[in-house]
Amino acid sequence: MSKRTFIVFGLLVVVLAVAIPWLVFHSRGDAKSGEDAVAGNLGGGQALFQTNCGTCHTLYSAGTDGNYGPNLDELLAPGGPAPASEIESIEGRVLSAVENGLDSSTPGRMPAGILNPQQAKEVAAFVGNTAGEG
Ligand code: HEC
Repeated sequence: MSKRTFIVFGLLVVVLAVAIPWLVFHSRGDAKSGEDAVAGNLGGGQALFQTNCGTCHTLYSAGTDGNYGPNLDELLAPGGPAPASEIESIEGRVLSAVENGLDSSTPGRMPAGILNPQQAKEVAAFVGNTAGEG
């Protein structure tokens, strides 16, 4: 194989092995899938929510529809997205629920310690800033 053929082949491999999967991966989760685009710094919290909370909770901004636990849009921000002055207290409520869990018999039980402290903060920030968008 000449050097040139080798380089062309190498580029082709890069396109097939890296660029195409990258494009496919990044085109998922756009507006069409019903999931909200969120500010970049909240993206980590959104992903954590989808994986760890969405099976039990509905939250519009995460595109989840779990119904074992309460709908968090309705519970935390019934009048639509909270004003900036209330976001911190919503974050605190979410953080407390995630760290301590909840165990009243109705409507059910939420386990404590699903996430490590750093992840819990990210999820709380995401929920606090986006609850009520739906
Ligand atoms: C196994 C199901 C389950 C999972 C997973 C779960 N929850 Fe819950 N969650 C519940 C239930 C059930 C309640 C209601 C408990 C109650 O009222 O006693 C609840 C309540 C809440 C509340 C309301 C707290 C309050 O102050 O009333 C928040 C906020 C919350 N969950 C956030 C989260 C977040 C964030 C995650 C992911 C880290 C999560 N939940 C994961 C089941 C779950």
